Amino acid sequence: MSDDLFADHDPRRRVAGRLAPVLLFAGGAGGLGNTSLAICTAQLAATLGKMDRVVLIDADLTRSDVATILRAPASLPTTATVAITGAIDRAFLAPGTLNAHRPAHVPDVSFHAVLLPSDPSIRSDITPHQITQIVEAAQKAADLVVVNLGPADPRPGSLVNQIVLPLLRQGAWLSLTTEPSPTSLANTEQSLQFLTDAAGITRDRLSVVVSRLSDAVKPDQAAAFTKRLSKVAHPMGSIEENTKVGADLRSGSFPLRGRYVSPVLAGLLLRVTGRPEFEETAAVKDAPRSEVVIDEENDVPVAVTRATKSRRMPWKK
Ligand SMILES: Nc1ncnc2c1ncn2[C@@H]1O[C@H](COP(=O)(O)OP(=O)(O)OP(=O)(O)O)[C@@H](O)[C@H]1O
Ligand SMILES: [Mg+2]
Repeated sequence: MSDDLFADHDPRRRVAGRLAPVLLFAGGAGGLGNTSLAICTAQLAATLGKMDRVVLIDADLTRSDVATILRAPASLPTTATVAITGAIDRAFLAPGTLNAHRPAHVPDVSFHAVLLPSDPSIRSDITPHQITQIVEAAQKAADLVVVNLGPADPRPGSLVNQIVLPLLRQGAWLSLTTEPSPTSLANTEQSLQFLTDAAGITRDRLSVVVSRLSDAVKPDQAAAFTKRLSKVAHPMGSIEENTKVGADLRSGSFPLRGRYVSPVLAGLLLRVTGRPEFEETAAVKDAPRSEVVIDEENDVPVAVTRATKSRRMPWKK
């Protein structure tokens, strides 16, 4: 893994104009394990995917749960450091820095992270625009950018949509964490429908993960639920509510060895990165059909389809 995301930059590894895929995690309701899944995805990408430059960005402006779950101390630089210093790269914490400041008993992380300040009064000064700027900076230096957001608020101008929409328009991917409860289902459907119908985002970019699936949900109920969701997004599978998974997550470990979490997350990573390392583990084996590059004329990221890319992009073998 590389420790300095911006300075230690090997130009042979990047092709000019190519940007890292961005994977956004939002919840259909609170408390569904959305942040845990974002963190586990970053770790799985770095370990199973052998990706050196994975960046996890906390963008849930209503709380700062990445720092809490990672047990990162409040003394570390955060997004607020960017506002004070004007230097975006100061907010990026390398895995070595993060691990050196975390308790000895928690397993090391293998990804870079950008945290939010734990003090709500400082956090409330951070704007959605500042977050998207940080994501765009990460996209130019990283192999993959994972973004943790709060519950998906279906209202068009909501805080979460102010971050999600601009990024989706630039070709990011969204994974909505949901559960088979009426509230979560309704929110998930409304949020996804708003994105496709009103905001013009293609369904190809939108996925759903069913989280904390309990024994009480019968297989035919789960199938009916998936069928309903598949009209508005790609279903990536479900993760059961499990005591061992919960205990691992609460103790700061990554429950990635068992069959509960990794198949779903590897499926998402395969879909977003197309890397063969994820194929064997993935529950859903769907490779991406487009990639994001800089449109040099307008200096903005755009999604290009694979067919266009293989004609235009010299690095494609
Ligand atoms: N599959 C699971 N089995 C058991 N417990 C789980 C599972 N997934 C998540 N949890 C637990 O659920 C709780 C909420 O997880 P997490 O904070 O990741 O959710 P969230 O959706 O980000 O919540 P918030 O709305 O607070 O941001 C945590 O205690 C976590 O350990
Ligand atoms: Mg969360």
